[in-house]
Amino acid sequence: MAFIADALSRIKPSATIAITQLARDLKAKGQDVISLSVGEPDFDTPQNIKEAAIAAIQRGETKYPPVSGIPALREAIAAKFKRETGLDYKPSQTIVGTGGKQVLFNAFMATLNPGDEVIIPAPYWVSYPEMVLLCGGTPVLVTAGMESNFKLQPEALEKAITPKTKWMIFNSPSNPTGAAYTRAELKALTDVLLRHPHVWVLTDDMYEHLVFGDFEFTTPAQVEPKLYDRTLTMNGVSKAYAMTGWRIGYAAGPEILIKAMDLVQGQQTSGASTISQWAAVEALNGPQDFIPMSKKAFETRRDLIVSMLNQAKGLSCPKPEGAFYAYPSCAALIGRKAPSGKVIATDEDFVMELLAAEGVATVHGSSFGLGPNFRVSYATSNEKLEEAGRRIQRFCALLT
Ligand SMILES: Cc1ncc(COP(=O)(O)O)c(C=O)c1O
Repeated sequence: MAFIADALSRIKPSATIAITQLARDLKAKGQDVISLSVGEPDFDTPQNIKEAAIAAIQRGETKYPPVSGIPALREAIAAKFKRETGLDYKPSQTIVGTGGKQVLFNAFMATLNPGDEVIIPAPYWVSYPEMVLLCGGTPVLVTAGMESNFKLQPEALEKAITPKTKWMIFNSPSNPTGAAYTRAELKALTDVLLRHPHVWVLTDDMYEHLVFGDFEFTTPAQVEPKLYDRTLTMNGVSKAYAMTGWRIGYAAGPEILIKAMDLVQGQQTSGASTISQWAAVEALNGPQDFIPMSKKAFETRRDLIVSMLNQAKGLSCPKPEGAFYAYPSCAALIGRKAPSGKVIATDEDFVMELLAAEGVATVHGSSFGLGPNFRVSYATSNEKLEEAGRRIQRFCALLT
């Protein structure tokens, strides 16, 4: 009898983490590697946020916090939802977790029974299907391909819903494609959900603030208030305030669900780090000038890398509306031979050969549920991006 739980045989490690580690190993061996594989802003956490954390330590805010979060942060979260998307949540309808990742996991843990289905538009963030599987549910992957700019179509959603559907996951702007839904595109999906009152919506709004030009971010409960009673709106400070290491995520939704998530968290990690929570209070309540600054930087980088990718022989890359990812297709290069002599049969081969030949680390699209594409994270300096773009172009031109 195997010692390791059967549940673990159903899940796989994160491809993003694996490639990032491979790039690190190559760098350690002295290879000149540009990493476009990580999913975190390259900026430092703003100074006012760091100072709030230091002040919290000095005040002695170093004891166990309440499981669902310190009152000041739950109030700041409720105020943030009201201010930015007009959503009314009481602090008791909010929960703080150790990263958005824990909040999502606990929502599934608190709700999924064996056989329950969770609709996940593909390409998806790598952790969604694995979390659903770990919690005993069944992921139902619905393809949203390049022809629809990686956006789920209402007909496809309608077809995927069964009596067993418990959740539909919505993520806009998206990791890995950067695609964001307009209000009309989102309304077309919420109209479908209105016809299926047993389906709840888990919206992952982590990249809310990273939308470019005059694109307006919207979230399901805002676009369709009738869904309010069956929506969990998840968000966090990791991407918006360059706080990935502080591990603070949060959500708001119906109290019955928040209480169930509190029960799970109470027997698991308890409340998130008090120091990080006080930092998050400052992030949400303090000056917001970091957001437009980082947004502007990412928009410039998006324009730069998307243009360079589209000039690479055989690549084709839609222009994403947000986040810090691009998701080019390498379909036209499948079957070509790399400088190593290897024939590129899959997007994973493309990514591995690109890393070996040019030292540019990206992540293959098949690990996000849709290929042959690859994910380019442009959370790096313009100089590095330009150099990476040149190397990708050179690699593509050399394929025979
Ligand atoms: C779409 C999406 N959701 C959630 C998360 C988790 O964020 P956190 O760092 O708050 O756990 C990430 C992080 O990569 C993400 O890309």
